[in-house]
Amino acid sequence: MVLPDGRADTKLIGMNPQERIAQLRDEINYHLYRYHVLDSPVISDAEYDALYNELLALEEENPALVTPDSPTQRAGAEPLSAFAKVTHPAPILSLSNAFNAADLFAWRQRIGRYLPDPNMDLDYVAEPKLDGLTVVLTYENGRFTQGATRGNGEVGEDITQNLRTITAVPQRIPVDPQSDLPAPPYLVVRGEVFFPLDKFEQFNERQRVEERQVYMNPRNAASGSLRQLDPRITAGRPLTIFCYDLVAWDGIDVPDHQWDRLNYLRQLGFPVSSDSQYCESIQAVADIYNAWFEKRNQINYEVDGVVVKINDRPLAESLGYVGKDPRGAVAMKFPAQEKTTKLLGVQVNVGRTGILAPNALLEPVEIGGVVVRNATLHNYDEIARKDIRIGDTVIVKRAGDVIPYIVGPVADLRDSSERVIEPPTHCPVCGEPALRVPGEVAIYCDNPSCPEQLVRRVEYFVSRGAMDIDGFGTKTGALLAEVGLVKDLADIYYLSREDLLALEGFKDKKVGNLLNGLEASKNQSPVRFLTALGIRFVGNVVAGLLIDEFGSIDALAEADQARLEEVEGIGPGTAVSVTSWFADERHRALLEKFRAAGLKFAVEKSAQDGAASTALAGLTFVITGTLPTMSRDEAKAFIEAHGGKVTGSVSKNTDFLLAGEKAGSKLTKAESLGVSIIDEAKLLNMT
Ligand code: IVH
Repeated sequence: MVLPDGRADTKLIGMNPQERIAQLRDEINYHLYRYHVLDSPVISDAEYDALYNELLALEEENPALVTPDSPTQRAGAEPLSAFAKVTHPAPILSLSNAFNAADLFAWRQRIGRYLPDPNMDLDYVAEPKLDGLTVVLTYENGRFTQGATRGNGEVGEDITQNLRTITAVPQRIPVDPQSDLPAPPYLVVRGEVFFPLDKFEQFNERQRVEERQVYMNPRNAASGSLRQLDPRITAGRPLTIFCYDLVAWDGIDVPDHQWDRLNYLRQLGFPVSSDSQYCESIQAVADIYNAWFEKRNQINYEVDGVVVKINDRPLAESLGYVGKDPRGAVAMKFPAQEKTTKLLGVQVNVGRTGILAPNALLEPVEIGGVVVRNATLHNYDEIARKDIRIGDTVIVKRAGDVIPYIVGPVADLRDSSERVIEPPTHCPVCGEPALRVPGEVAIYCDNPSCPEQLVRRVEYFVSRGAMDIDGFGTKTGALLAEVGLVKDLADIYYLSREDLLALEGFKDKKVGNLLNGLEASKNQSPVRFLTALGIRFVGNVVAGLLIDEFGSIDALAEADQARLEEVEGIGPGTAVSVTSWFADERHRALLEKFRAAGLKFAVEKSAQDGAASTALAGLTFVITGTLPTMSRDEAKAFIEAHGGKVTGSVSKNTDFLLAGEKAGSKLTKAESLGVSIIDEAKLLNMT
């Protein structure tokens, strides 16, 4: 077979597992690179899955051949208890700053003194100054062996496991197995790990809805994600990297010019920013600075300036250092997206679990082309710590397109008319007393019928991570609560077509989609349903543990605190939260309303039986499309409970394709391979 880009598919019969594993890893790494770095895949997702599954299967059969650099290990290894220290092979230097063209020309003038001829012609490379986290990647004989943070420039922290989860970080170089370049015996590369802005916004929005940590800006999010002791958390974050420097090498000749070094990195398969530019004069650099400043808000990553490097690296190095800053390069920073303005007041926003969050009302101020009127103040402890007062002149920062935040007050500008910000004693919406939970920074409104909490809870209930109701947007929930059609969560299942059609903007089609989405969601698993109830500390992982243990929401409701704490992974805080939720009469009534609407409270009997049967032992299934009664998770649990195996993609090793409605390419593939296709009823009959 010949792959779409003309390469021969070298899969050979008769290869030993070790050879085939090595070959599969190379191919998979190459396709990851085509997909994530070049953005131009040459095989379909299904073909990729087939390669990946073949590797997975071979590694399962030959556990001794699993190595940490295998693409199967990118999903994240076991958590660490602490990061080890790493001494860098050469200092990881920083840069001196320039803030405008005059500073740039002054820098050029200054370095003249150290050049063979002060007025000699120099050429430069201008690179985007990425606002992420510097990392140092070590490759030995072409394999990624260690990744570290910058730390103090001499000693950093070993974050190898986390960096392995980033698909754009090559595990082997050259990434292209057909490359003519030799694998460098030793190469240390410097780069910047960051969150693309669009991904950051989606990610943060999800964190917000799930009431997890919302990050202040993409840089903090990148740094927080990389410094997780549990690499499985890092693996779930959409991080990427650009590389821009060679720190150390051995056994290879590297190009002398920075422009050629960037190309060398690129040829080895490292992601290198395509925004970098060659400049034949210092004036060209100044022009680029201006051009990038204009377009900085259109770039999908945070750029806080332009790094200017003398192209001739040996010459640049001969200029020496000032402290930790090499003379041969300079960072031209963009003016900070920061302004001062007056804090006019604080508005209290009510969250899903009743968190009362302070939000700053500002005298409108233009920052980076956007008028800012609101900013987050995080929580009341933070306000007290920074001593922010109403009437203060405050520094507001806008990082990328994220929610602006208050850096702090300018205390020198006070005229003693400022007022201290008191934490709320009552919910501003329903008026019930506010509550502070010992050990938590948040202040809560404790009234489950609070109208604002209801809007937030509906928003969460229908969201992707919870019941995933098609056609039910954020605004729909707010509108339904506002007009009184939804007074509690369960009301969304009692909406009539007539009620909805009477609302402004709700035409036949929209109403149809909404009702279909609601109907379909009644089949969601009890794990999703429990998650969607929004019980404090019960996200989808905890919900999974609880349903695994108790099998149904009713059995869970009967469990006392001691019983809950017996469950692996459930601590006292969660146990108290769960028991007090179920102890509340209003919640019991709500559950009955859900039951009457037809939601699923229990895991399907047979799936709950554990490995009670071996009827499906030795059989491999793939699931596709929407099944009439089971969710895919339930079908998987059912198959596994009967000894069967479920994999992600169809191959010649698949015994059955379990297909529901809207089955797509997997169905076509199964048909072409002659795999038996069954429906849910057939599956149930097999056991
Ligand atoms: S070169 C001697 N190039 O900016 C080499 N740094 O203010 C010094 N940075 O610590 C670094 N993008 O974290 C270089 N294209 C780029 C960069 C870059 C971002 C960061 C880096 C450095 C800081 C210096």
